[in-house]
Formats: sequence, C-alpha cells, structure tokens
Amino acid sequence: MSSLKDLFNPSGIAVVGASKDPTKIGHLVLRNIVEYGFKGRVYPVNPTATEILGLKSYPAVSTISDKVDVIVVSVPNVKVLDVIDDAGKAGVKHAVVITSGFKEIGNVELENELVQRARKYGMRVLGPNIFGYVYTPVRLNATFGPRDVIPGNVAFITQSGALGIALMGSTIQEGIGISAIVSVGNKADIDDADLLEFFDEDPNTSVVLIYMEGVNNGRRFVEVASKISMRKPVIVIKSGRTEAGARAAASHTGSLAGNILIYETAFRQSGVLSVKSVEEAFDFVKTLSWNPVPTGDRVVVITNGGGAGVQASDTLADDGIFLEKPPQDFVEELRKVLPPFASLANPVDLTGMAPEDWYYMSVKLALQNPQIDAILVLYCHTALTSPIGVAKAVARAIEETKISKPISVAMIGGPDAYEAMRYLTTLRIPAYPTPERAAHALAALLKYRKGREYLVKRISKKQ
Ligand code: COA
Repeated sequence: MSSLKDLFNPSGIAVVGASKDPTKIGHLVLRNIVEYGFKGRVYPVNPTATEILGLKSYPAVSTISDKVDVIVVSVPNVKVLDVIDDAGKAGVKHAVVITSGFKEIGNVELENELVQRARKYGMRVLGPNIFGYVYTPVRLNATFGPRDVIPGNVAFITQSGALGIALMGSTIQEGIGISAIVSVGNKADIDDADLLEFFDEDPNTSVVLIYMEGVNNGRRFVEVASKISMRKPVIVIKSGRTEAGARAAASHTGSLAGNILIYETAFRQSGVLSVKSVEEAFDFVKTLSWNPVPTGDRVVVITNGGGAGVQASDTLADDGIFLEKPPQDFVEELRKVLPPFASLANPVDLTGMAPEDWYYMSVKLALQNPQIDAILVLYCHTALTSPIGVAKAVARAIEETKISKPISVAMIGGPDAYEAMRYLTTLRIPAYPTPERAAHALAALLKYRKGREYLVKRISKKQ
C-alpha cells in the first residue's frame, strides 16, 4: 500500500498555528476540519490558547499524548523548521505545510532544509505553499477553501493555490463529486507521481485531474501515470504552454514548465489526456467520471437539428472518431416508431418537430443495441418541445433500460435549455450547452479507451 495511506486516513490530525482569530488561515483550516465533519481526532496547536472552536488546544505537538498522523502547519516560514523538529521527535509522519515564503520567492535553502529535517524523522511533506487537502471518504477538509465539497470519485491535484481553491468551488457549482483535492504547491517532497500511486490503489477514486505547471521527475511520472492509466483516466491541464506562461510558472511555484512538446509526448505515451483549458478539463471529468468505459468506439448521434449533427460530426472527426452507418436492426426498430421523414443515417435526424417521445424511443433503442458503444444526444430548443421534457425523456430511457452505456448530451438554446442541462447534471448524466463540447467530451472517453488498449498491449509485450 502507498506510503501516503495515513496522510489520507489519519486517526489524529493537528493544526499547528490554529488561532481564535477568524481571519487567520490556521483558524479557517481548523474550522473546515471540524465543520465538514472529520471522523478522526482533531488537535489545535497554539502557544497560548487553551481552547479553540470548542476543542482543547495544546502548546506543542509533542504535548499531545494520543497518536498524531498529520500536522497541518500554518505558522510563518521562519517558525516551520522548529515545528517539524518538535512533531518529528513526537513521531508524526506527515506534514502539510501551508506556509509560503520558500522556493517560490528564491528561498531555496529554507525549502531544502525543510525536506532534510523531515526526512530525518521519516516524515513526508506536502507543500509548502499550499491551501491544504481534502479527502471526502473520511470527511476531511483541511483547507482554507470552500467547505461543502461534494463527495464523489474524482481526485484533483493542483499546483496552483488560488486557482485550485476557485476550481474547488467550481466543482460544487458544476456538481462534480470529489474523492480528494490535493494542493501540491512547490512539491518539495510529495509530488504528482506519489499521489497517482495512492489514487491508483484508492477504491474511492476513479478519475484523476491534475493542474500541472511542471514535474520534478519526468521519467517517474510517465512510469506511474502509465500504470494508473490502465485502470483509471488521468486528465492533465498543463499550464505554462507558451514562453509567457512558462515565465509566469517559474515565479509562481518555482517550477520549470519545460518544453510543451516533451510533455505532450510523455502524456501520450502514458495514456494521459492532455487538455488546454479548465472548461475542457471539467467537461472531460464529467463524461469520464459518470460513464463506464465502452468496449468499442461505434457512436450514434441522435439530433433534432441537422446543423448540430454536422457540428458534432466534425468535432468527432477532429478527435479521430468517424461515424459509421447505424446498425441495420437499430434502423429497422427506429423505422417502426419514427415518422417517414426522419433521417435514419448517422446522425439520426429526428427533425425539428421531434417531440420528447421520439427522443425517449431512439435513446432507448440505442442503449439496447449491442452494436452501439456510445450515444451522443443533441437537442436544439424549438417552440415545439420543452428542453426539460427532452432531458427527462433521456433520463427515463436510461432509468428504464438500466443499461449503463456512455452517453453525452447537448442542450442547445436559452435559459430553459440551460436548466435542462443542469437537471441532467444532477442525475450524473453529462450534459453541455453546445454540440461541440458534448462531442469532444465523449471523444475523450473513447480516446482514453484506445490509449488504455495500447498501454495494455505495450506492457504485455514487455513481459
Ligand atoms: N506553534 C503553534 N502555533 C504557533 C507557533 C508555533 N510554533 N508559532 C506561532 N503560532 C501561532 C501564532 O501565535 C498565531 O496564533 P494567534 O493568532 O493565537 O496568535 C498563529 O500561530 C498564526 O501565526 P501568525 O504569526 O499570526 O501568522 P499568520 O496566521 O498571520 O500567517 C501563514 C501564517 C502561514 C498563513 C503565513 O505565514 C503565510 O505563509 N501565508 C501565505 C499562505 C499561502 O498563501 N499559502 C499558499 C496558498 S495557495
């Protein structure tokens, strides 16, 4: 089992630099831990306080008699080494160092010293220069970000702090369920590869999203990422893609952003899905975490708008997915339930007058047909049907057939279409506001499947 097991499943956690002052980070982290409902023991550590947020406070970690697995450190940088010494001597094995003022401002020596001290005690360090971490299976939110993270199966590793906190909020807004959020900051010790090793073995995680500026050890990253990608998709937002971006990354976390082409090659080799934007990343996360991985890449597109169908076909083709003629038995079944003017090619065009029921029947038949691997549903809002009615028809088809097959939906139009999209999202049916985004996200799932096949072949050849 990964050496990070106790970091994510601590029986006791101490917040060093906890404060009664509600504006201080040490207070906010402690409050999130308490209010999100952490299941283990919690200890505030502060030189003068006797009680903080209703919990007994301790002057030093070494004065706590029970076992402490993790310390979350929120004291100024010049005090961090003393805290590490005290906790290290007390047997603590994980330090989560929120404090800034290390390598990112040129304080390389202090950062090296931090790692060396920690190593002396067999202690692993997360950070420094981070906003903390979350692990929802044990209701642990040790961050100064939003409190009410939605539990789910997506692990999010972020090298950016403020952007990471904002994205933490976006996951709530987007209805994305989280297993873990880990701020890695300067990655002085624990890095992406260590975390991927943990998430590979973690039964609560099925998709990993990384916001990355740079990696410390590229070879190890490729090795670990290839291994996890055979079981779980990894999506990476690699920033610092341009010279200007790379310069910004260097002054942000002290990272060398490196040549993007080298990164892209490494991602391809290790089956990692590389994305350029936050929007694309979240789109992929929804389709990959809410759908099963298909066995093939035969997609059927069902639409009420020819134009939407064309746009989606183009996007799929750009992503290497080419639409084939739909299976004959599917066409025959459709012919029985659809009017003669519906176009039974691929895309299946139900025409602009399509009522909810035509969507229900065609989605149901596509789900039931074993020669169809994935379904793309496109709906353009017309005055003839209500978007929510179409969304409910799609959901009913899935509910009634109880068939779990990759699906992606576009609800195109105004506020009512947006509401219908939100409705599907609450049911964990990936839905998007444009045909291109729905198609591109579905293609990502199919691309992942292909990448995984390639990895399995490559590894089995080696053995
Ligand atoms: N053990 C325990 N508590 C200690 C301590 C020690 N050795 N030394 C000091 N403290 C206490 C302080 O007394 C204070 O508590 P109080 O309010 O009761 O007096 C508390 O720890 C915090 O110390 P303080 O000096 O008030 O610092 P701060 O809260 O203003 O700032 C940091 C501390 C870590 C937040 C700040 O140095 C920092 O690095 N900020 C940037 C953090 C950041 O942005 N990280 C990256 C995010 S992405």
